[in-house]
Amino acid sequence: MNYGSNNADDQKPKPQIGYVKLMDNSKSSIIICPMTEADLDDVLVIERDSFPKPWLRQHFIDEIMAVTSFPFTAFNSEEKVIGYVCPMMILDEGHILNVAIAPSFRGFGFGKFLVAHVLKECLNRNASSVSLEVRITNQPAITLYKSAGFKETGIRKRYYENMEDALLMEYIFRENGELNAV
Ligand SMILES: CC(C)(COP(=O)(O)OP(=O)(O)OC[C@H]1O[C@@H](n2cnc3c(N)ncnc32)[C@H](O)[C@@H]1OP(=O)(O)O)[C@@H](O)C(=O)NCCC(=O)NCCS
Repeated sequence: MNYGSNNADDQKPKPQIGYVKLMDNSKSSIIICPMTEADLDDVLVIERDSFPKPWLRQHFIDEIMAVTSFPFTAFNSEEKVIGYVCPMMILDEGHILNVAIAPSFRGFGFGKFLVAHVLKECLNRNASSVSLEVRITNQPAITLYKSAGFKETGIRKRYYENMEDALLMEYIFRENGELNAV
């Protein structure tokens, strides 16, 4: 596992270690690191298992390289890649472009932990909001985002390649002057 650069000048986020409580009340660790090209073989397997029109390797390389993007890879305690998320920020607006958890690791809280991590990273970068689009039939993802505090803000008709509508969702950090808890 590559835990990122040791260069003190490196502005990239450092690895974050968290714990997700499983149904039997045991805990499973999750380690979130800035995505590197070394992660991409594993990331691409999850991507192909998760989406009808998966991103190609170059899409992820572009996200790793882009100054506005800060993709993360999630590992379990055995250093296995279990998921990833690709957020970006332009001015004070965050956006989640892509998120997936490996099929055998779904339903344990890892997706929610990863999205919460992105919200904290965006807040640290002074975001005022984080938005995303999700297929209107993707109930697991919609439930995840609602559970993380996102609200529905609209529908983009026939947004996807199969003419499926996109549900637009947004997390607002400050409402009525109050900071929403992340
Ligand atoms: C969407 C996805 C990332 C969720 O990850 P996950 O680790 O399984 O989600 P979590 O276990 O953290 O669950 C988060 C919430 O969503 C709910 N949820 C998860 N899977 C669900 C399902 N299949 N049906 C209904 N609700 C579901 C959980 O109950 C939980 O709700 P709670 O916080 O109220 O208890 C995962 O299903 C996935 O990778 N899907 C394929 C890729 C994808 O669709 N990405 C989103 C693109 S916009």
